[in-house]
Amino acid sequence: MEESLVPSLKNTFSYDFFIGAAINGGAINGSDTLALDLIRREFNSITPENIMKWEHIHPFPDKFNFEMPDKYVRLGQKNNMHIVGHTLVWHSQLAEWVAQVNDSASMAGLLTEHITKIVGRYKGKIDSWDVVNEALNEDGSLRESIFKEVLGDHYLELAFRTAAKADPEAQLVYNDYNLTHPEKREGAIRLVKNLQENGVKIDAIGMQGHWNLERPTLEEIETSILAYHKAGVKVLITELDITVLPNPWELEGAEVSQNFEGNKFMNPYPESLPDSVQNQLAERYADIFSLFAKHRDKIDRVTFWGINDGASWLNGWPIKGRTNYPLLFDRNYRPKKAYESIMKLKK
Ligand code: G3I
Repeated sequence: MEESLVPSLKNTFSYDFFIGAAINGGAINGSDTLALDLIRREFNSITPENIMKWEHIHPFPDKFNFEMPDKYVRLGQKNNMHIVGHTLVWHSQLAEWVAQVNDSASMAGLLTEHITKIVGRYKGKIDSWDVVNEALNEDGSLRESIFKEVLGDHYLELAFRTAAKADPEAQLVYNDYNLTHPEKREGAIRLVKNLQENGVKIDAIGMQGHWNLERPTLEEIETSILAYHKAGVKVLITELDITVLPNPWELEGAEVSQNFEGNKFMNPYPESLPDSVQNQLAERYADIFSLFAKHRDKIDRVTFWGINDGASWLNGWPIKGRTNYPLLFDRNYRPKKAYESIMKLKK
């Protein structure tokens, strides 16, 4: 069968948006052949889950690790994919030495070098960059970070300006979680407007999409898509997954510093997911995807945060050692009911 006719996520939504997945070392270096097969068959966009984070790509002042990122980009090119870079400026997974930089001129120089070198290396190859990640607090104010502390609020402007200079064609993204919460949404819109008013290029808002079976509601998601569109940027769903496990603290989002010891009530499905929950997940994914399809003129890309349930970060957060089922493919890389429910939307 001709490649474009194979039933797959990417073909099914080819007129709507890119369908992406976050991938890891095993797929990038080819050792995880099952993951690689699935990526090639189902997805037309990739994001590196971890290998381009600061601590990996720039672990010491004069050392950049480009071996895995180069392989990652080659994989995307070979398969004709929309390639995402994740992430240039983030307070987390930062190399330790960055915290020792405490004067603004050195920090500005460092940020400029970091971005220029990485974006420049992949100019014309990486299509979309998460330039700044998770810079907002839940109330919409700017989060304290080493960058804000040393450079002040304008570090965002510096980051976006530098990225635009290094690759004027790349799509530049502000990426965060809980961007459906009203206060944080307002904060993100202020951030976009600030950049725009200062003549700085920002192309899209990345709504991460670490969601659960009930929240955010479809209405909250839709209101947010419309609000970002109105602010003049594209909307991307950058890290979609839907947890099916209980959350004792009613946490939402993806604050990586939160972690808790669990108990068996917090890990109710260690062997398999009951049909009733499987169905709920399928319905939730179908609802979300119909909404995305409705707003296909505003949404450029929908990326899942991982390929299959076994490799999801949600098996380890916010409680370590649980068995979660947040994605479309199971631990044996087989499509789940949620996959069918999304594919059916287009039949
Ligand atoms: O590679 C080491 C391994 O050698 C070691 O044995 C093991 C012990 O814990 O840790 C491994 O590193 C872990 C790495 O994932 C690879 O699995 C880190 O501890 C762990 O902190 C890291 O977590 C990642 C997290 O970001 C922090 O960077 C998750 O995989 C990744 O899914 C998650 O992704 C973030 C996005 O970048 C930004 N948005 C939120 C999202 C979810 O937290």
